[in-house]
Amino acid sequence: LFPYTTLFRSILINEVGLRDGLQNQPSILSTDQKLALFHTLRAAGIRDFEATSFVSPKHVPQLADAAEFLRLLPQDRSLRYTCLIPNERGYERALAAGATGIAVVLSATEGLNQKNIGMSLVQATEVCERVVRRAKDEGLFARAYIAAAFACPFEGLTPPRVLFELLDRMRTAGADELAIADTIGAANPRQVKDVFQEAINRYDDSHVAAHFHDTRGLGTALAWTAAEAGVRRFDSSIAGLGGCPFAPGASGNVATEDLVFMFNDVGFETGIDFNALLAAVGTAATMLQAARGGHIVPWARSRPQAAE
Ligand code: COA
Ligand code: ZN
Repeated sequence: LFPYTTLFRSILINEVGLRDGLQNQPSILSTDQKLALFHTLRAAGIRDFEATSFVSPKHVPQLADAAEFLRLLPQDRSLRYTCLIPNERGYERALAAGATGIAVVLSATEGLNQKNIGMSLVQATEVCERVVRRAKDEGLFARAYIAAAFACPFEGLTPPRVLFELLDRMRTAGADELAIADTIGAANPRQVKDVFQEAINRYDDSHVAAHFHDTRGLGTALAWTAAEAGVRRFDSSIAGLGGCPFAPGASGNVATEDLVFMFNDVGFETGIDFNALLAAVGTAATMLQAARGGHIVPWARSRPQAAE
């Protein structure tokens, strides 16, 4: 469905700021502000976006405008949008809004499924399988998150055996992309190396994505480790916004500008212009106090040639 993604980019950056980044913010951006932020990201060359989520507006009021926002996004075959889906009701809402891509969210533990989507692990697994199957039958792009892939805020370390059982189930159901998510930013490079090497062997790099949070400042170290294991698809959030309101201890995602700088600098093709991305960081910062910016930003802004 989206063959372009592997044709001319060696690293695919999936911008999750509009969903993971905004879902936890104390202030709620207007639909117009979200659209303005989207356009600055698009102008920097980003083509893959997690646009919003179709969850309960009571639980996540920040994304209550999901349907309206999705309809305002430019329809262009070179752009990929996914929407996070917690249950079948969310899938119906996404379909009605014209979604072309979805992302189901399955946590690897009992505790996080309960807190996040009010389901047991068994229930959540079955619901995610059904939604992925339907999405594929109906011609949508389907990604499956396994949240708390390394550690859970309620249950500690996640056994890799459990993680891979769930990944297998999602891939068998037809998921195009498996997003292995360090939801609370608790992984270390050693674990990342082992898990992603195994994932690349089992599913191929075209089906594996890495989703890191920068809670302990290790986000880029984890991303580099995953890249060395063969991962070519990465989630990140502009200005390092992000975090799950239902997973205590989760802080911002690894910043898009940190990943883009690192991958461009070592010679990977991301298709994203770092200086233009700094303008998007500026836009996010004017809208949200929490937009602290990635680790690279102070250096980038102090360069004589810094572009705003
Ligand atoms: N979209 C909108 N509303 C939804 C919905 C959806 N996908 N699914 C359920 N609802 C509504 C129900 O109709 C009900 O509404 P009411 O209170 O007006 O009757 C209410 O939400 C509660 O639904 P219920 O089925 O009792 O389940 P719940 O209270 O356990 O909530 C979720 C389930 C999934 C809706 C809720 O836990 C949720 O939105 N979680 C957000 C998860 C998230 O965004 N996490 C961060 C990203 S990983
Ligand atoms: Zn996340």
